[in-house]
Amino acid sequence: PLALGLVALLAYLAGSIPFGVVITRAMGLGDLRQIGSGNIGATNVLRTGSKPAAAATLILDAAKGGIAVLIARALVGEDAAQIAALASFLGHLYPVWLGFKGGKGVATFLGILLALAWPVGLMACATWAVAAALTRISSASALAASALSPGFLAFAGYSDLVLLALLLAALVWIRHAANIRRMRDGTEPRIGKKTA
Ligand code: G3P
Repeated sequence: PLALGLVALLAYLAGSIPFGVVITRAMGLGDLRQIGSGNIGATNVLRTGSKPAAAATLILDAAKGGIAVLIARALVGEDAAQIAALASFLGHLYPVWLGFKGGKGVATFLGILLALAWPVGLMACATWAVAAALTRISSASALAASALSPGFLAFAGYSDLVLLALLLAALVWIRHAANIRRMRDGTEPRIGKKTA
């Protein structure tokens, strides 16, 4: 129990590093929370106009979840890997450094899935990419990828991960409430555009 508690704490702290905010500030691109949707994720970093900054945010927000899972699995075991997944994800959504006002969890979700079950992680990334190619809307792509992931896990034989994935996907959807409203109103911006 002590080891699992420590895993949860360290994974939470790793997940709560807001790379989008750190990178945009370091590159002199402004305060991310005053730009576009105000979200701290790679999609909103792209609205600063910097593709490298957006790519770095995507990779690092995914890596913090994935690395937490891999370290927990290597040092403690499979239960710890799932706890690290949940804790790092919650760290991104509710980071202590930003007064618990964090992101929507998409990159971190994909990084976690790649680490927990890489074939399913690839399926989720492919789902995001296909949906993005069709819709040019980042949030719609994230909603599709997260919603399908529990089914992908069940299909690929990772039944022990389905419950965790359902919980993470539900949180991704809850965090996209404003995006869903904008899609309904037809005002959700396309990828790379500042407004619709
Ligand atoms: O990664 C979050 C994405 O799905 C939506 O971001 O900035 O358009 O709300 P944003």
